[in-house]
Amino acid sequence: MKLKILIKEKEIKNRVKELAEEIKKDYKDKNPLLIGILKGGFMFLSDLIRNLNFPHEIDFIRVASYGSRTVSRGKVRWIMKSKTPLKQRHVLIIEDIVDTGYTLKKIYTQLKRQKPLSCRICVFLDKFDRRKVKVPLHYVGFKVPDFFLVGYGLDFNEKFRYLKDIRIIDMEEKNG
Ligand code: PRP
Repeated sequence: MKLKILIKEKEIKNRVKELAEEIKKDYKDKNPLLIGILKGGFMFLSDLIRNLNFPHEIDFIRVASYGSRTVSRGKVRWIMKSKTPLKQRHVLIIEDIVDTGYTLKKIYTQLKRQKPLSCRICVFLDKFDRRKVKVPLHYVGFKVPDFFLVGYGLDFNEKFRYLKDIRIIDMEEKNG
């Protein structure tokens, strides 16, 4: 199976640093709560917070979508919720990729119901061509074309999450 590099490790590192700077400007005195979305968001969150040299906290939630990533979905299931109370907190949702938008829409809507002081989304990859529902994206790493992507937290059947760069899987070849 051939995997072609779309975004190199070095570009990822640079962009993560830039995003961390933007986040620092907005949140440095707010002790924000960064909520990583598992599984895919774990690598981005861990790189991001290593660049945030100001007080903040982290937590995680885990959701799963019905169906595979290659077909249209829409139903999102909660597997693990965050136990941190959100009232009086500035919440920043950290996700690896937004595709149709169903996952982030559901999470954003649910978290906002808990009435945090503020709630924003930081997503590393925005596959904008595939959007089905609108979600407010406050911080975006890269806009990406509609290819099947793996690496930097993203998987194909649970494989390739560990790759240091973002790569494209050739959909013809992967079925062969
Ligand atoms: C991926 C990704 C997002 C979601 C985006 O997760 O991490 O959560 O898909 O797709 P959407 O915008 O179409 O909803 P996935 O369901 O593959 O689970 P994982 O993070 O555990 O790999």
